Amino acid sequence: MYWIIGNQGMLGQELSHLFGAEGIAYIGTDKEVDITKPETLVKQRQPFDWVINCAGYTAVDNAEDDKALCRKLNVDGPDNIAAFAQTSGAKMLHISTDYVFSGAHTTPYREEDPTDPIGVYGQTKRDGEQGVLKRNGFIIRTSWLYGQYGKNFVNTMLRLMNERDSVSVVHDQRGSPTYAHDLAAVIHTLTKTVDAGGAISPGIYHYTNEGGITWYDFAAEIFRLGRELRVLKRDCTIRPCATSEYPTKAVRPAYSVLDTSKIKRTLALTIPDWKISLKQYLTVRSGQ
Ligand SMILES: NC(=O)c1ccc[n+]([C@@H]2O[C@H](COP(=O)([O-])OP(=O)(O)OC[C@H]3O[C@@H](n4cnc5c(N)ncnc54)[C@H](OP(=O)(O)O)[C@@H]3O)[C@@H](O)[C@H]2O)c1
Repeated sequence: MYWIIGNQGMLGQELSHLFGAEGIAYIGTDKEVDITKPETLVKQRQPFDWVINCAGYTAVDNAEDDKALCRKLNVDGPDNIAAFAQTSGAKMLHISTDYVFSGAHTTPYREEDPTDPIGVYGQTKRDGEQGVLKRNGFIIRTSWLYGQYGKNFVNTMLRLMNERDSVSVVHDQRGSPTYAHDLAAVIHTLTKTVDAGGAISPGIYHYTNEGGITWYDFAAEIFRLGRELRVLKRDCTIRPCATSEYPTKAVRPAYSVLDTSKIKRTLALTIPDWKISLKQYLTVRSGQ
């Protein structure tokens, strides 16, 4: 039995749909079981094999002004869940982020690289990993998540490209998109592998789609495929611009490509290239 915490979020909904489609037994909760309050967690009496935390504070810019709530959700939340999982005999899987790194690297970040977050969101996500690690939980760090449910870069770009003649997108931040549908499938694979007694240790794993690109590259491909698959109904010019032209409250890492060799090796995975997954997602969108 799985417990998906944060089942109304982008990843939580994706995982719920996957488990529903595969006939996997799970329950899902969102804000009604507040992860910042341990006493609400312990009310869940069901015996769980896995507790998967997809909840968190994810508004990167707002976090700069909303430090206390962000810390409660991203540090106390996973700590409370990990304590609950430990005392109830469940395994825990938690989701973290590429924003635990500053972006000073020029080659992909490995799991063991020192973390050095530059914003409140990244700092709290980094600190939130500790409570999970000390109780032998599993953590998947991912990046640039998009999918069918909720607000994300792809959905925002599709809307803007259908409304405007031109869109400017930053060309000096490099990372890897991740299709939430692919991440949900990997969460399932990881938990199944552990349950089957596979050689997989608790700790941190990096998972993103293959490829390190800029937000501009991503937008240009969204436009190209969007036109090809008729998700976009009109022309739009995609212009590269510098981060300095679009300052945001929170500074983003200039480079946050994650090295995914550990999860590929451990789970014998082939990870889809970002363009393949984007096409898959836009094909789903084109049929709606
Ligand atoms: N999105 C990305 O690009 C990205 C990249 C890297 C890593 N991640 C990580 O991936 C995970 C999932 O991200 P996501 O984009 O799917 O997040 P999301 O869409 O923001 O979903 C988070 C969910 O948690 C809920 N929640 C808020 N406060 C809660 C509380 N006190 N108790 C229980 N649930 C609560 C939210 O409800 P409300 O919406 O009502 O607040 C929301 O349904 C997060 O850990 C995030 O840090 C995301």
